[in-house]
Amino acid sequence: MKKNAYKKIGIILVIVVAIFSFLEMKYKFSAKLNPKLAGAVFSPNDKELVSLGKEIYFANCGSCHGANLEGEPNWQNPNENGLMPAPPHDENGHTWHHTDKMLFDITKYGFGKIANLQGYKTNMPIYENVLSDEKIIAVLSYIKSTWPDKIKQQHDKRNADSVAAN
Ligand code: HEC
Repeated sequence: MKKNAYKKIGIILVIVVAIFSFLEMKYKFSAKLNPKLAGAVFSPNDKELVSLGKEIYFANCGSCHGANLEGEPNWQNPNENGLMPAPPHDENGHTWHHTDKMLFDITKYGFGKIANLQGYKTNMPIYENVLSDEKIIAVLSYIKSTWPDKIKQQHDKRNADSVAAN
């Protein structure tokens, strides 16, 4: 029984990782939204911006992504409607695996548009007409400001690599 449960969790994990790799791949080939944004866009060391971002986070994101950025319970498994719960934005999630630009685009335009997946069903709202670009950058800067230094550095490297690859 226990062994089977581990097996099930393993299979689900593989599927989740595959979906996100697929999204990342599609994203690379999708029309480049916001070509002006490249490399490091967030400022996790800007105290004023981060405190604004924190307010925005609790007003708009915390209800799903958690007061401690821990995500929804059981976030690796689709819920009863077949939709993914909100993942954590702390070091346990995969937010830090994505570049600043991609995180900005997910938040502003939504998964469907950035990955060119028409009809992709998700609970993640689209913030294009809700938050200004500055506010999206502030909230994502806040999220980054909470990561341990090691994770921040790895994330900086991803941003730098993405510029080099273009
Ligand atoms: C109603 C619930 C809800 C709210 C509110 C919400 N999100 Fe999400 N978010 C989700 C869900 C669900 C996902 C996973 C989407 C999927 O896989 O289909 C997600 C995914 C994300 C991702 C991608 C993470 C990754 O690792 O790929 C980012 C970035 C994100 N949200 C940022 C935000 C920000 C910033 C806010 C506030 C401005 C916010 N979200 C508000 C539900 C929410």
